[in-house]
Amino acid sequence: MPDPLRDSVSCGVFMARPDLEPVTIVIFGASGDLAHRKILPALHSLHMSGVLHPESRILGISRRPMADSAFREGLRSACEKRSRSWSEGKGWDAFAAKASYLAGDVEDPHTYELLSRALESGFPRNVLFYLAMSPDQFPMTIAGMEKAGLGSAGREPGGAGREPGGAQVPWRRLVVEKPFGRDRASAHGLNLLLTAVFRESDIFRIDHYLGKEAVQNLLYFRFANSIFEPLWNRNYIERVEIDVLEQEGIGTRGGYYDGAGAVRDMVQNHLVQLLCLAAMEPPPSLDPEAIRDEKVKVLRSVPHYSASGYLERSMRGQYEAGHVGGASQVAYLDEAKVRPGSTTETFASFRVEVDNWRFAGVPFVLRTGKALDRSASEIRVRFRRPPETLFAGICSETLPSNALIIRIQPEEGIWLGFNAKEPGSAEIERNELRFSYSKGHGETLPEAYERLLADALCGDSTLFIRADEAEESWRIVDGLLESWKGENAPPLLGYAAGSPASEVGRA
Ligand code: BG6
Repeated sequence: MPDPLRDSVSCGVFMARPDLEPVTIVIFGASGDLAHRKILPALHSLHMSGVLHPESRILGISRRPMADSAFREGLRSACEKRSRSWSEGKGWDAFAAKASYLAGDVEDPHTYELLSRALESGFPRNVLFYLAMSPDQFPMTIAGMEKAGLGSAGREPGGAGREPGGAQVPWRRLVVEKPFGRDRASAHGLNLLLTAVFRESDIFRIDHYLGKEAVQNLLYFRFANSIFEPLWNRNYIERVEIDVLEQEGIGTRGGYYDGAGAVRDMVQNHLVQLLCLAAMEPPPSLDPEAIRDEKVKVLRSVPHYSASGYLERSMRGQYEAGHVGGASQVAYLDEAKVRPGSTTETFASFRVEVDNWRFAGVPFVLRTGKALDRSASEIRVRFRRPPETLFAGICSETLPSNALIIRIQPEEGIWLGFNAKEPGSAEIERNELRFSYSKGHGETLPEAYERLLADALCGDSTLFIRADEAEESWRIVDGLLESWKGENAPPLLGYAAGSPASEVGRA
């Protein structure tokens, strides 16, 4: 007999991909950490799954002089270590043949001339530029690209139209990594620079959390079911908690992190994106602009708090020496490249409201930290308690409220906590319904970067941040960071590395 709970319907809307054309993927910062950890292994996986057109090419650019062969060696070791689709070197020769390298300093105008000439010399004419270097180099790189005429602004829009000979008009797109600015003003400045060189529809601002399967599932879970949406409002929800907790300290990233801190590194982007997806209204369609419009409305509904409002809603901490998962962890202040006496926060908690008809008065608590006892990213929706009247006389404790936990990582899945009768007694016991992604779909879900790169190649910007979205999310954290400056700054709470998040701030 068919199991009605197992009937599956494939809508195919997000995964539908038109036949991909050959493309040149130009990676600025190709010898860097991000390229080797995420971008190149993701491209390898896309190649192995047939998403990259066989004639596509990868052109790495960075300052270090290197022959194509050395670049390919680095590429191989990155893919061996990190590509989900690595299988004893299968398909490697075909992938390696796509890769070449150009040594060039982004401060040197000659680099862009070389690049421009290279692109004219038999590379596919569709070009995806990827800025994977330090964000302080974004402006000069964009300016260099503008001078060399590499952008899309001023060219005929690519993709749809046909050239006189019948060939498709080639496109040029740009992927920009985070952090996108360091406050609203600089994000606005960066937007102006970018949109002078590329059309907004050709700009793909990455937040890799949006490429995670469990994050994408939020839209499906909320809007492809009828049982949760009627409860998804202030009448039934008491509080929403959004956590992105990490065991790792800052490792070798002190130079970047000390100038950023947890709010700029995590809250402004990943946590605020989770807030948007948890709180947004159903969009009228799955069109990228329809979805992003709804997310921007959520951001605009977060009030401008007064300085004291920010202070009473927030908390900041910094890790001290301790043990994480049995290994010792040095104090943040002893990490490489951290300024002596730095007050950069490695833990932040910030409670906001989404002041609209659906959610007015419901606190959304955003919390993130490094060097904690566990790594866990999840959204916990806590529902209002049921009235006690019926069970007050027979139950020794107050009724726990229902909770829905959307686990983003590790162990992606969904838990629904509910109350039931304990067999053999009149007491209430807590139970849960569980859904685990890995049980249903194998151990390895697609990597976020695979999905995002595939979308950028298709020109689908649904999972990328729009200019106004980036600026509005900075507006929310600018006020918080401002309130943390000066003589009224809240204390920077020390916590021993390996502490549970709930202990931070509990002296
Ligand atoms: C990055 C932050 O954007 O996200 C890092 O810069 C953080 O500090 C990382 O560790 C977390 O990503 P993930 O995918 O490991 O949860």
